[in-house]
Amino acid sequence: MSLQHLTLTNFKNYQSLDADFSARINCITGDNGEGKTNILDAIYYLSFCKSFFTGLDAQNIRHGEQFFIVEGNYDIDGQAETIYCGFEPGKRKRFKRNKKEYERFADHIGLIPLVMVSPYDINLIIGGSEERRKFIDGIISQFDREYLLEYQKYTKILAQRNHLLKETPQTWQIDEDMLQIYDDQLAESGQFIYQRRKDFVGNIEPVFQRYFETISQGKERVSLIYRTTLDEKPLDQQLRDNRSIDLATRYTNFGVHKDDLELGMGDIPIKRIGSQGQQKTYLVAMKLAQFEYIGNLCGQKPILLLDDIFDKLDQSRVEQIVNLVAQNNFGQIFITDTNADRIKTILEKVGGEHRHFNLKNNVLTLL
Ligand SMILES: Nc1ncnc2c1ncn2[C@@H]1O[C@H](COP(=O)(O)OP(=O)(O)O)[C@@H](O)[C@H]1O
Ligand SMILES: [Mg+2]
Repeated sequence: MSLQHLTLTNFKNYQSLDADFSARINCITGDNGEGKTNILDAIYYLSFCKSFFTGLDAQNIRHGEQFFIVEGNYDIDGQAETIYCGFEPGKRKRFKRNKKEYERFADHIGLIPLVMVSPYDINLIIGGSEERRKFIDGIISQFDREYLLEYQKYTKILAQRNHLLKETPQTWQIDEDMLQIYDDQLAESGQFIYQRRKDFVGNIEPVFQRYFETISQGKERVSLIYRTTLDEKPLDQQLRDNRSIDLATRYTNFGVHKDDLELGMGDIPIKRIGSQGQQKTYLVAMKLAQFEYIGNLCGQKPILLLDDIFDKLDQSRVEQIVNLVAQNNFGQIFITDTNADRIKTILEKVGGEHRHFNLKNNVLTLL
């Protein structure tokens, strides 16, 4: 699985760009604002039919132009395949595989598995629990349709239950029979979601530990724990036992919508005591665990995009990361960095197949 050639037309800062990539490690270095991240976002588009950063396709059209095209030539299981994405405001976004247009984007997503690691992902570590639930749910539902449907069902019933609690006037008796119907449905979906999330975290935790240990060279002890009240008792029982609380607060206080991933260093949340470099190490280890999980499920190595992740990491950790991804259990990698010398030195030390590009004035030059 690799992107061999990328062509951009009027995409963000590029009027046009043509690039040939290595099937292994590609480094793109250049100053801030030269357009390194934009190249990775174009590659992201070709996997997920949308930008990593914005849901508004029009924002990705080069200022002053009327459309953009992103095209990639891939090697997928030894087959040459062309993926095309074109967008023009007022028309629908067009996605083609070998010139044949997709009817639904969902039919394309999954063909080219990809994992992006971006500085924006740090919210996974320092943000609220919703970020971490999104992380878990996004990965599981990418490959598990049953989970996606159950998750959608849960969200809908939860909204209905909260609506009933909140909108019944204070002077009225809440319809407890209706509440019971919601409880039964919520408990069933919730229990399903709980089990899948537990399996997922159980699966990635040891992988995460292994990557963290390697990158940090065993300097810190970390933990990744799935936190949920469903570990204590089944959801139907929790809803029953706490109904008076829900009636008083007029809100559903228990369920998998309250789950979290507890990210610890020692016994303290890493968001409280971790340095920026330690938090970043944690993030990268989590993302590499995601990479391995997805790779196992789809039976091929996803494309890995490491966007500007070396800032705040010491030389040893950067070297460990490059060392890791240079190994054979990884496939095609794209790394961006502002520091060309650092990356060059490390690549020479690590060896293996790679290409190093420098980006200046919208031109990508092979070094
Ligand atoms: N739609 C657009 N049209 C023209 N330029 C754009 C557009 N979107 C972003 N840019 C430009 O892209 C540059 C940022 O590119 P980026 O890939 O984030 O740089 P970096 O090399 O720092 O990763 C900015 O200079 C910004 O003005
Ligand atoms: Mg950038």
